Amino acid sequence: MKYLTTILLTVGILPLSAQQIVINTEHTALVLRVDKDKRLHQTYLGKRLIHEKEYDMLSNMGEVCIANGNGDYFEPAFHISNNKGNETLVLKYVSHQVKKTEDNNTETVIVLSDEVRQNSVRLFYKTYSKEDVISTYAEIINGEQQPVYLYKYASALLHLNAEAYYLTQFNGDWAAEVGMTESRLGFGKKIIDSNLGTRTNMFASPFFVLSLEKNAEENTGKALIGTLGWTGNFRFTFEVDHENKLRVISGINPYNSKYELKVGETFKTPEFIFTYSERGTGEASRNIHSWARRHRIKDGQGERLTLLNNWEATYFDFNEKKIIALIDEAKTLGLDMFLLDDGWFGNKYPRNNDNAGLGDWQPNKKKLPNGLNALTAATAKKGIKFGLWIEPEMVNPKSELIEQHPDWAIAWNDRTQSYFRNQLVLDMSNPEVQAYVFNIIDGLLTTCPNISYFKWDCNSPMTNVYSAYEQSCQSHLFIDYVKGFYAVLDKLKTKYPHLPMMLCAGGGGRTDYEALRYFTEFWASDNTDPIDRLYIQWGYSYLFPAKTICSHVTAWNKKVDIKFKIDVAMMGKMGFDLNFSTLSKPDAEFCKYAVQTYNGIKDIIFEGNLYRLVSPYNNTHTASMFIDNASKRAVVFAFDIFPRYSKTAPQPLRLQGLQAAKMYRVKEINRYDGKEQKIGTFSGDYLMSIGLQAFTGKRLESHVFYLEE
Ligand code: GLA
Repeated sequence: MKYLTTILLTVGILPLSAQQIVINTEHTALVLRVDKDKRLHQTYLGKRLIHEKEYDMLSNMGEVCIANGNGDYFEPAFHISNNKGNETLVLKYVSHQVKKTEDNNTETVIVLSDEVRQNSVRLFYKTYSKEDVISTYAEIINGEQQPVYLYKYASALLHLNAEAYYLTQFNGDWAAEVGMTESRLGFGKKIIDSNLGTRTNMFASPFFVLSLEKNAEENTGKALIGTLGWTGNFRFTFEVDHENKLRVISGINPYNSKYELKVGETFKTPEFIFTYSERGTGEASRNIHSWARRHRIKDGQGERLTLLNNWEATYFDFNEKKIIALIDEAKTLGLDMFLLDDGWFGNKYPRNNDNAGLGDWQPNKKKLPNGLNALTAATAKKGIKFGLWIEPEMVNPKSELIEQHPDWAIAWNDRTQSYFRNQLVLDMSNPEVQAYVFNIIDGLLTTCPNISYFKWDCNSPMTNVYSAYEQSCQSHLFIDYVKGFYAVLDKLKTKYPHLPMMLCAGGGGRTDYEALRYFTEFWASDNTDPIDRLYIQWGYSYLFPAKTICSHVTAWNKKVDIKFKIDVAMMGKMGFDLNFSTLSKPDAEFCKYAVQTYNGIKDIIFEGNLYRLVSPYNNTHTASMFIDNASKRAVVFAFDIFPRYSKTAPQPLRLQGLQAAKMYRVKEINRYDGKEQKIGTFSGDYLMSIGLQAFTGKRLESHVFYLEE
């Protein structure tokens, strides 16, 4: 029979009884096949073929729904046991359906079931054809007459087959987010995961780049970018087997998270979202960016507000007078909003440092005797908006909230507690806590209707992991917490559908595409040193469009001038976190001018296509450019970081993504002297083949060029 199957496959005929499921985007295909035993296999993931019939010739790469004990020798996607100790599950194809979605894409739903144990799994594949993105997740349904226990519950298992695999991971720490490292995968497993519960991405980000055959490159090569939409513990397992085949298992990290499913209950996994390109990581990133703006991020195609934040200008030390002075500065600078950061609340335990007050969200009477309304009145008078910092999932042991509700915090009470930044995490698995968090925000918006924006922080990972609410189901906490978090965000989004919010977790400790359904942007890092930011923003740009990456100009790194700092911040969602009285008059004037410049080009940065031209990694220069969708206008950012002394001028910077036949007028903008400088008119061909003299041999210089057809 095996021999016959081989013959049938090579002549391009599917074996009798085999059934093929082709999941297509414009340029990518994922092909699955049901064999005669009703097992579901993947036969292909790659460039979409012109003749669909030819997928028939491909052989099986591996099963899609591998569960514990089904005869596969490598890492399974599922492990589900029942209380009779049956650990084995063999999931077989039952049916599938392809539906058209509202946005004119498709959703394929495949049902698989175990013949002995009546547990089934539904696999969902949603395609975003134009953007070449596929999102996939699973539902596990307990059809047994007894509870079952989920030990493994992946969102996706993908098979790849190539000569070599290169994995780029994004990891770091506080103030050192998304450092990129590429390594070749060899036999065995490589795991990237998080156990932190909250502030989950402090060390590792929930996304990766996988390059097939050779190291990742921007414009050539096969690249897969994948990410998990889950604001909690995640895990990616990359396993290369004895035949050099790779499987990638993505999902919630099952660490300390055995999950009980009662009779008839369903468990839905988060989405694994991926794109595949045969034209390098540049195109893969642009795919994800377009998908995110059109289909995912809250108000993805909407405006973003420039702002002045007081955090680094004042830290906890402010009063109404100081804040009103900063509001005036925000207006003078031409910014859209003033954002009041940490320190505005707490009375019995005033929030004058990070030791006390979290949880007591009433304005501090000493600092703000006239409440928040006096501040929103000041912003309204100036015609700008008012934003507010909150950290509603957290509590200081020194707070009225913990005095009233000691059991609301995640904390054991039979051991000495440990704190991260002197705080505890509130138990969002508890519906009472969810209601409290919703009411805090809803209450602020009701009593102070001119609040137009929130920066929602989350500074602590889970410590002392014990929930008074979960009682006998402690291993549900990591998961139920995240579900509770989404339940609150859902309710808020329903009531305030267009309220912009910044996602923050002690810098970039929360950066995933499920949270971004509810947030318009995220705080990329507390590190605002412009040199470090070149690397951090470069890393985030693989996954996130510029309009989501909050980039502020601050006092960090005195060796770098204000223009360089602003040029770096302009590559994202620009803001300031500065006391302007500390700036020289010309520097302050330049900031004003730069805000105007930014307002004139930010549509290209926000909605256009990003081309990463020169990486800061292993280079003394770096450059990126954004081009609008019609290829008519573009902005190029070029930075000289630390070039060595040399008599020869740096090579011209070759641009990308322009139309060769079009002629572009090029000028240098955002110059410190406030005067634009004409460079000349060039064809797209010239600019992409020869390039612009954008770099210098000087240290810490930056240049911004504007191109118009
Ligand atoms: C975190 C944030 C900062 C700031 C402080 C306030 O560290 O990342 O931007 O808001 O909290 O305590």
